[in-house]
Amino acid sequence: MPLSQVEDFVRQVPDDVLVVLDEAYIEFVTTEDRERGPLLYRKYDNLVVLRTFSKIYGLSGLRVGYALCAAEIVAALDRVRQPFNVNRLAQVAAREALRHQDQVAERRAENARLRDLLAARLAASGRRTLPSQANFMLVDISGLRVPQEEVATELLRRGAIVRDGASLGCPGWARVTVGSEAEIEFFLDKLAELETGTTAADAAGPSRPDADAAGQSKSDAAGGSA
Ligand SMILES: Cc1ncc(COP(=O)(O)O)c(C=O)c1O
Repeated sequence: MPLSQVEDFVRQVPDDVLVVLDEAYIEFVTTEDRERGPLLYRKYDNLVVLRTFSKIYGLSGLRVGYALCAAEIVAALDRVRQPFNVNRLAQVAAREALRHQDQVAERRAENARLRDLLAARLAASGRRTLPSQANFMLVDISGLRVPQEEVATELLRRGAIVRDGASLGCPGWARVTVGSEAEIEFFLDKLAELETGTTAADAAGPSRPDADAAGQSKSDAAGGSA
């Protein structure tokens, strides 16, 4: 959603009602909106902008993030937050990560390239996606040989992890994370199996591109970006 629409919404909310804007994926955004959230909280005292180091920074295992908001809200949060809620190692890592915006920019550009590739490859096979600025997108899962509510489980059985859109309020869609080129091809291959009705047992396709001997995906490993 463009930030102008967010602002229209915030403007309509009474001053004594808090609005929380979750910007967990903001660093993946390639439009000029990326830098604007922090400007908004300066304009609206009832707006809290949340950021995390779990996504583009890849530090999910360290449990560190921050809020941008008016000093009055910071004081209120300070009274209720647990003491030592972000440990020192996490703070050091987060501060160091912030210094490497060149790497963040590289990841953003690479994600955008692969996001376009995933959307284009799906479009070429006649499958709709919704426009995304994040590192995931919603993919239309209609017209497969399995009921929509079983698509995520069937893909999981084949080694491709997606989230069922129904659990996000979007039945008929799957939330698919942008992966490497090999992971995108792997996912498309598994989706094609559900189009043709090939069973997981029949399909002796390639193993997951990032699976190690224990079958764990690198991107699922603790500390990776979520
Ligand atoms: C939309 C959204 N907001 C916030 C988070 C929170 O991330 P964390 O609790 O790791 O900072 C996530 C992580 O999955 C997310 O997907």
